[in-house]
Amino acid sequence: MRLHHQNQNMQLIDGRELANTIKEEIAVTVAAYVAEGNRPPHLAAVLVGADPASQVYVRNKVKSCEKVGFNSTLIEKGPETTESELLEIVDKLNKDPEIDGFIVQLPLPKHINEQKITLAIEPKKDVDGFHPTNFGRMAQGLPTYLPATPFGILQMLDRNNIDISGKECVVLGRSNIVGTPISILLSRKASPGNATVVLCHSRTKNVAEHCRRADVLIVALGIPEYVTADMVKEGAVVIDVGINRIDDASRKRGYRLAGDVKFDEVAPKCSFITPVPGGVGPMTVTALLMNTLKSCRKEVYD
Ligand code: GUN
Repeated sequence: MRLHHQNQNMQLIDGRELANTIKEEIAVTVAAYVAEGNRPPHLAAVLVGADPASQVYVRNKVKSCEKVGFNSTLIEKGPETTESELLEIVDKLNKDPEIDGFIVQLPLPKHINEQKITLAIEPKKDVDGFHPTNFGRMAQGLPTYLPATPFGILQMLDRNNIDISGKECVVLGRSNIVGTPISILLSRKASPGNATVVLCHSRTKNVAEHCRRADVLIVALGIPEYVTADMVKEGAVVIDVGINRIDDASRKRGYRLAGDVKFDEVAPKCSFITPVPGGVGPMTVTALLMNTLKSCRKEVYD
């Protein structure tokens, strides 16, 4: 009786639905803010190169701005753009009083130093929360812009009343934009927070053993379907951050999207799980909008 082992109470965390709910809330706030005589929040996004996934992400961010009543500016530059040209764009946006916040979409072409660009962004306008000033403020629990993906994950936990206090959380992946910051946020004395966090990476021994102890498993590796059912504890919460394109000739686009989790076999063991697509991805966008609103209303700086 296979069914005997399956958790009949598995809940899908619908990131699209939650993102739409939050966007409606933002739209109401913006409408009231504008009715008071203020100009709407304004987000700018810079895209360098021709990475198809990045193009989709950036266009989604701009589209979402329209939906909530923000102004938006999209700056698209070719793959031949130099580092100094990009630094000039960053400098202009830093100084433009009409822009509340901006992002430079990553990854950048190999000839551009991402760290150098991140450091050039004025922390007040760094609505991605990538600048070391904002990252340091996050680590110390000071007012800041939380990085969009970790912020989106916190919203998903919070709005589904998933209590992680005292729980074992395992994070797979130690990137600057997801794994490292989410591991800090989950362990912070805050709500959501107070978890016991293990951060696994490419040098970790026995990743599967760590995973099997996890009450909450956050996967941000970029390896399609890496997490299999044998790595997941019965009743675990699984948050899949991966968005991987898999060649698939049977689809009209020529590919399908897969997460870092083998969803079909893992889902039956979970209390909560996020799908791909329609999970963490849409929440990243709403987190960015929330940060831009905070910047416009000077809730972090000034
Ligand atoms: N690349 C992947 N995720 C992100 C993000 O949240 N912001 C930016 N700027 N680039 C990304």
